[in-house]
Amino acid sequence: MQENIIPHNFNLSQEERSNLKKHQPLLLWFTGLSGSGKSTITNLVEVELHKKGIHTYLLDGDNVRKGLNNNLTFSPEDRTENIRRIAEVANLMIDAGLVVLAAFVSPYKKDREMVKNTVKSINFVEIFVDTSVEECERRDTKGLYAKARKGLIKDFTGINAPYEAPESPDVLIETEKTSVEEAVNEVMKYVERRLK
Ligand code: ADX
Repeated sequence: MQENIIPHNFNLSQEERSNLKKHQPLLLWFTGLSGSGKSTITNLVEVELHKKGIHTYLLDGDNVRKGLNNNLTFSPEDRTENIRRIAEVANLMIDAGLVVLAAFVSPYKKDREMVKNTVKSINFVEIFVDTSVEECERRDTKGLYAKARKGLIKDFTGINAPYEAPESPDVLIETEKTSVEEAVNEVMKYVERRLK
């Protein structure tokens, strides 16, 4: 099938779309355990970028899994497919000229590598929202850790499924030592440098 699909070259380029927006596109990839604070930080970073006139869009695990990816489980294969689709969507948004913020557990290194390869490393920023399982479990904002401990959720990251932490993320946020405000500032400082 694939050999019968020939991509069409359209007249308007990514660069021309970006010129209109007056900034480069970028993908800010937030990874970390469920309840680590990814969505909170991502949400506030998007607000700050918006205030600076930057065109953004936010993709979040819990939301995307209710729509585009509502047929996927948390098995390793389905997580890979989840991340693959997000990478392709983000890539289209980059082509549209947006700064995309993506908050996904994305526990496997190879899946995060795949995202980087899909969007190209020049467009990719890896942000590790580093919160220990103990702290996520203590917060347990959604009550999922308690459920997982009772054996009601299988393949729950940090409890009975692995999380492979990034070794050299572009931005490291240690939420147990950093306030949300400081975390947002750190991300903004890094992103402003990359957008120049
Ligand atoms: S990922 O591993 O495929 O990247 P994703 O970020 O889309 O995960 O979804 C994670 C969210 O789904 C968590 O924040 C949590 O609210 C919910 N969730 C439900 N079941 C699980 C599970 N087994 N493991 C991790 N998160 C889960």
